[in-house]
Amino acid sequence: MSAQIDTLPRYRRMTAADLDVIAAIEQAAYPHPWTRGNFSDSLEAGYHGWVLECGGEIAGYTMVMIAADEAHLLNLTVGAPWQRRGLGRNLLAFVVKLARDYGARTILLEVRPSNSAARALYASAGFSEIALRRGYYPDGAVREDAILLERSLA
Ligand SMILES: CC(C)(COP(=O)(O)OP(=O)(O)OC[C@H]1O[C@@H](n2cnc3c(N)ncnc32)[C@H](O)[C@@H]1OP(=O)(O)O)[C@@H](O)C(=O)NCCC(=O)NCCS
Repeated sequence: MSAQIDTLPRYRRMTAADLDVIAAIEQAAYPHPWTRGNFSDSLEAGYHGWVLECGGEIAGYTMVMIAADEAHLLNLTVGAPWQRRGLGRNLLAFVVKLARDYGARTILLEVRPSNSAARALYASAGFSEIALRRGYYPDGAVREDAILLERSLA
């Protein structure tokens, strides 16, 4: 079932109190989801975790590591009922602004070759494919490659 967007998306920092909801969204969104521990470790490491709320509900979230002048987009997810309403594009624009605000000159991320929705989103937001990382993702007996994408913020 799809969800109604009747208010503007609102961004706030992710906290430990969000992680049960986020882990449930994550489970439904990916064949190989992050665990709750992946999120709590990222928050404890000081990474930038943000949630996007619509009407008081968590509709999406992101996790970004920013070190020196490089931002690494580790996770960007819109919950299944909220997809295809422009929220992924809105969340990615938020990440670009966040990275700039923290002095990054480039954003890097990995995406599965099979993830055509995400690849289309990143391509339309100015990301370019710069490398193929062979066997990057665990995927049962075989491992799936990752495409490394980059967008310059210069
Ligand atoms: C990828 C994802 C973030 C897109 O979020 P979304 O809110 O549905 O995206 P938007 O509505 O903002 O769409 C932005 C663009 O993404 C692309 N896109 C989104 N969903 C798509 C789909 N199902 N098929 C093809 N392209 C798609 C389109 O280019 C779209 O632009 P358009 O609407 O002008 O055609 C969302 O599908 C998601 O969270 N998927 C599961 C998690 C994931 O794969 N995250 C990325 C990991 S690298």
